Amino acid sequence: MTTLLQINASISHSKGQSSQLANQFVAAFCARNPSAKVVVRDVAAAEPVPHLDGERFGAFITKADERSAAQHAVVAYSDALIAELKAADVIVLGLPMYNFGVPSQLKAYFDHIARAGATFKYTEKGPVGLLTGKKVYVFAARGGLYAGTPLDTQTSYVRDFLRFLGMTDVEFIYAEGLAISPQSKEAGLAKAIAEIARLAA
Ligand SMILES: Cc1cc2nc3c(=O)[nH]c(=O)nc-3n(C[C@H](O)[C@H](O)[C@H](O)COP(=O)(O)O)c2cc1C
Repeated sequence: MTTLLQINASISHSKGQSSQLANQFVAAFCARNPSAKVVVRDVAAAEPVPHLDGERFGAFITKADERSAAQHAVVAYSDALIAELKAADVIVLGLPMYNFGVPSQLKAYFDHIARAGATFKYTEKGPVGLLTGKKVYVFAARGGLYAGTPLDTQTSYVRDFLRFLGMTDVEFIYAEGLAISPQSKEAGLAKAIAEIARLAA
């Protein structure tokens, strides 16, 4: 059975354009794969991931038998996020652009899943990602037009981060120009929806 993990990162709950596009893709995917198990993780609106501060990172690097109860809880939370990711064959990420970057809660999520020995390891040849064999679809929603230009540092950041953890099969689907004009929004969404239809075919 295929397990699909949908990660929503919009601050606008289910109204977020990235979440709505991710939903449409997941519906098409499930129509093609009726036995698929879908797990939804909302990192920004429903269950915002806390920022990684010194205390939380301190819990990660404290030996298991020396952790306080609070530190155990922090590590258990991170472990649960990682287990959810490890169990997924397909990952669908709704990716809003906020102030040229990823939502800060998504960055916080990334900070909780990048753990040496769990999702990557250091070797003499450099870091090696441990989350291999997964397919990732990213639904990127933007007010402006950036894809393919030097201003789109978001795409390379997300791609590099996923590669660091071993996820190299990553496809970006863009809905851009959503804030420029009603016509531009319509065209941007139509392009993304056409991509979803292509992927579902
Ligand atoms: C706080 C905030 C910052 C934004 N910054 C940018 C930006 O830097 N570039 C851009 O193209 N659009 C920007 N936008 C527009 C969003 O990318 C657009 O509304 C998109 O639909 C967000 O995804 P969502 O609807 O899934 O939340 C911003 C929107 C918000 C609310």
